[in-house]
Parts: sequence; structure tokens; C-alpha cells
Amino acid sequence: GRIWAVVPAGGSGRRFGGGLPKQYLLLHGRPVLAHALGCFLGHPRITGVQLVLPVADLAREDWRACLGDETGRLLPPVAGGAERADSVGLGLQTLLEQGAAATDWVLVHDAARPCLRREDLDLLLGSLADAPQGALLALPVADTLKREDHGRVLETVERSALWRAFTPQAFPLGALAAALADAAQQGWKVTDEASAMERQGWRPLLVRGHGDNIKVTLPEDLPLAAAILEAQWK
Ligand code: C5P
Repeated sequence: GRIWAVVPAGGSGRRFGGGLPKQYLLLHGRPVLAHALGCFLGHPRITGVQLVLPVADLAREDWRACLGDETGRLLPPVAGGAERADSVGLGLQTLLEQGAAATDWVLVHDAARPCLRREDLDLLLGSLADAPQGALLALPVADTLKREDHGRVLETVERSALWRAFTPQAFPLGALAAALADAAQQGWKVTDEASAMERQGWRPLLVRGHGDNIKVTLPEDLPLAAAILEAQWK
């Protein structure tokens, strides 16, 4: 089957503060979003990449020029929704309407993760043959974890079975679209694709990636991402 990518970039960047949403900030002269798309646009196994933008940015004529789509895999962007899960759902819907099959794979990757390594993407793609219930890049938790109560430690949480979930996350397109629609209808809070699938009883495969696949969330993450990219180029 074919493999698609959906990159949600529909956020307003409220936590980041300031004006420009974080996916547009420049990292080594290119938007964060362009770095996040790079791995997928240049990958021979990815058929097409569906970008999801804030509705106000769809009319911009300058977006494609700065994204570096040399392979022509970038599909016309669509408008996102109120929450990340809504934006992903709209991206999936568009792929299905444009002729993607429900049984095709889709990889969902945050626009705010500009440091994904090609080797981690390849690892995830390589795992799919043995991952009928989907797969995601993730990493075991390194820090000791505390549960809080009014700003004080209530208890230490056993961390040995805890992983941090990254993106990309890979699922069959139709099943993911249905799971996200169900979650929206039930009012379940869904912060990644896997959590929507878990609600349907799926047990996605954890694929150990590198911890430098950070999500740019706060202003101090930007210089960190810049340093990570520099280190990767060496
Ligand atoms: O806000 P958060 O860090 O969870 O955002 C993760 C990704 O989801 C970002 O790339 C952001 O642009 C995207 N997003 C979206 N639509 C929203 C909110 C976030 O596509 N309504």
C-alpha cells in the first residue's frame, strides 16, 4: 500500500507567546515547518504530504516557495481546526477525498518537530510490516517523575514502563480518521494519534527514536533546535 504524511501546522502558538506561530519561526534561515516537512518530501516511500495550515494563512502565495518541495510531493494545503486532533482529522479527510485508500498508511508528524532524523523515519517505516496496530516513535522516560498536589510532591511515579510519545505516528488512514472522529464526538481529549487508537482498543508499537526529535513549544526551544540541527549535520 501507499504511505502518506499529514503535517498539522494549524496551531496559533499560544504557549510560545509573541506574534508569529512557532511553525513559521526561522531556524537556520528556513521556517521550522520547512524542516519538519523535509524528511517526508525527500523520501522515496512517501507518496504525498498533506500540510494543514491555519485558515488565515491558506491564501498566502509565499508558503510553497520557502518549503523546498523539489520532488513535487507537497499537496495543496488545507485549513486546520480548533485543536490539533481536528487539524489532523481534516488532513486525513482531504487525503481520502483525493483518492487515498482507507488501507493506506499515514504518518502524522508535528510541524513543530523540525529535528526528525531520516534514520528514525526509516526505522518507523521499517517497523510497519510488523505493526498491524500502528507504530510511533518514542523514548523511555529518563527523569524521575513526580505527581503533584497543589505544587507539592504527592508521590514518585514508577517510570520503568513510561515512554515519551513523539511523532511521526503511523496508522492505517481509514482507521485513524474513524478513531479521531469518534474521539471528537465523545469529547475525549486526544493529544496524539495513538491515544485516539488506544481508545479503540489498539496497541500501537513503540519504536525507540532519538530524543533530539523535540517539539518546539517555548521560546528557549528554538536555539536548542538550531543546535540539534547543527550537531546532526556534523
Ligand atoms: O500545540 P501543540 O504543540 O500540541 O501543537 C503540535 C502541532 O499541532 C503543531 O505543529 C501545531 O501547529 C499543530 N496544531 C494544529 N492545529 C491546532 C493546534 C495545533 O495543526 N488547532
